[in-house]
Amino acid sequence: SQFSILVLIGSLRRDSYNRKLAGAVAKLAPPEFSFTQAKIADLPLYNQDDDAAQADPVKRLKGEIAAAAGLLFVTPEYNRSIPGVLKNAIDHASRPYGQNAFAGKPTGVIGISVGAIGTAIAQQQLRNVLAYLDAPTLGQPEVFLQMKEGLFDAAGDIGEGSRSFLQGWMDRYVAWVKKHAG
Ligand code: FNR
Repeated sequence: SQFSILVLIGSLRRDSYNRKLAGAVAKLAPPEFSFTQAKIADLPLYNQDDDAAQADPVKRLKGEIAAAAGLLFVTPEYNRSIPGVLKNAIDHASRPYGQNAFAGKPTGVIGISVGAIGTAIAQQQLRNVLAYLDAPTLGQPEVFLQMKEGLFDAAGDIGEGSRSFLQGWMDRYVAWVKKHAG
């Protein structure tokens, strides 16, 4: 499709709500958009000594980011911050110095939590990182979801109660990516 989006998920958990959310919101996109979930579980721990010879999974991730029309972060909140696995992936793709893969990539940030404030603090911290990395990030609407009965329907799609809200977010995200495509 015309606009391929790379999705970065901040949880490695098999039954991750954020992974489920990523799959469900992708179905709200128009046909010219496609979504692929990046693999970050096999990235080594970031070590600046390796910048001159990045590992194959790091090169793969950077290549996928470079090829994407846009990025979508779907992340839980761990201890009021970004999960370490996600920060590790970001640090890898931002390096070596001068070869930051995120620069100029239109980006969205959403997340779901079991806690009441629904990843708000993690998302805000992620926005700081993305601002520094020069990734233009959609500001509104913010998507802070709390996992509840009925949020996903039996088929794993977004349930009735949140569908129009998330469709509104997707419409704005699609326009954001297209605007930055030039
Ligand atoms: C959590 N959780 C959590 N939730 C929250 O709203 N704010 C938080 O600060 C934290 N902190 C936290 C730390 C750690 C180490 C874990 C494992 C969990 C709970 C979290 O919302 C819950 O585990 C979600 O299910 C994680 O998202 P996935 O894995 O389902 O996508």
